Amino acid sequence: MPLNLSPSVIITGGAGFIGSAVVRAWLSTLNYRVVCLDKLTYASSLRALAAALENPRFLLSAIDVSDALAVTTLLANTRPSAIVHLAAESHVDRSINGPAPFIQTNIVGTYTLLEAARSYWEALAGAEKAAFRFLYVSTDEVFGSLGDAGRFDEASAYAPNSPYSATKAAGDHLVRAWHHTYGLPVITSHCSNNYGPHQHPEKLIPRMISQALAGKPLPVYGDGLQVRDWLFVDDHVDALRCLLERGRIGERYCIGGGFECTNLELVRRLCDLLDELRPAAASYHHLIRFVDDRPGHDRRYAIDPRKIQAELGWHPQTHFETGLRKTVLWYLEHQDWLRGVTAAEQF
Ligand SMILES: NC(=O)c1ccc[n+]([C@@H]2O[C@H](COP(=O)([O-])OP(=O)(O)OC[C@H]3O[C@@H](n4cnc5c(N)ncnc54)[C@H](O)[C@@H]3O)[C@@H](O)[C@H]2O)c1
Repeated sequence: MPLNLSPSVIITGGAGFIGSAVVRAWLSTLNYRVVCLDKLTYASSLRALAAALENPRFLLSAIDVSDALAVTTLLANTRPSAIVHLAAESHVDRSINGPAPFIQTNIVGTYTLLEAARSYWEALAGAEKAAFRFLYVSTDEVFGSLGDAGRFDEASAYAPNSPYSATKAAGDHLVRAWHHTYGLPVITSHCSNNYGPHQHPEKLIPRMISQALAGKPLPVYGDGLQVRDWLFVDDHVDALRCLLERGRIGERYCIGGGFECTNLELVRRLCDLLDELRPAAASYHHLIRFVDDRPGHDRRYAIDPRKIQAELGWHPQTHFETGLRKTVLWYLEHQDWLRGVTAAEQF
């Protein structure tokens, strides 16, 4: 249990959707000091960290992961026993319209963090050195698109199709190389689509809820039959804890929720839930519109999570129906948050 030796962990991207869920969960259930390294881009939310900011075991460091001096200084000052690297530009559509920040953060930023982590780790000794972990949160999108059958696993070949997934794949290769060349104790995870509270409304689920509540069209790309494997964010957070505590160094782990669903079916489920929980004059289903498909849109993602299940005993706890209902209720109860994020940024 590496974190027991020196319970300080740096979460990069800790003000984002998944990162803030990690911060909230680990501050409340584990006795870690949690350091959030985040540039606070449009995708971040300080409101998602409101309780953390009151906690003496929490530190927010508003720096860019590609700023070598700032990152090196943070490591020297906080002396982490682990780094969980989530900071990224994460929206596929934005990567198509403007890939430059994706190259900078996802590739140069990951390289910068790896180099800082390597110098820091090489200077450690004994138990501290043995306990250190660098956990890189990648995505299933690095494997490209599946046909109707099969699932991605740790042996799947890399075939990224979007600028976003190409930059994440580049990060994967850098992480792997820093392990093989320098011995840095890394673990890489590939997870499927996450959903839950505090997700930026540029992403499918909060976007549809936000549009529906405003009585605006619900744009569905192409025929809407692209399949995604949905994972409730708290289950992902728990998987990351398992990896940090018991994952094998140098290994990759696929994490999936085991619930495949087409985008169209998902939007219809959201309409059903909104019809039940926030009925309007007409059913929300009437707002569904088919729009031009995203260029290079991957058809299907699905994860085979048997490795993390067999080795670490991790299993998702949240059934999709329960998680989706919880998620819709959260956005209904936090419409001020949704409106605030939407107003702050045009997308
Ligand atoms: N959301 C998903 O469904 C999903 C699925 C698989 C993998 N992932 C991966 O998980 C990670 C987190 O995803 P998310 O959905 O929470 O993303 P997000 O966009 O909600 O959050 C990203 C965070 O990173 C920060 N950030 C961006 N550039 C930075 C920089 N240069 N320096 C420091 N901080 C910076 C942002 O301010 C933001 O707080 C990403 O690496 C993503 O590739 C996400």
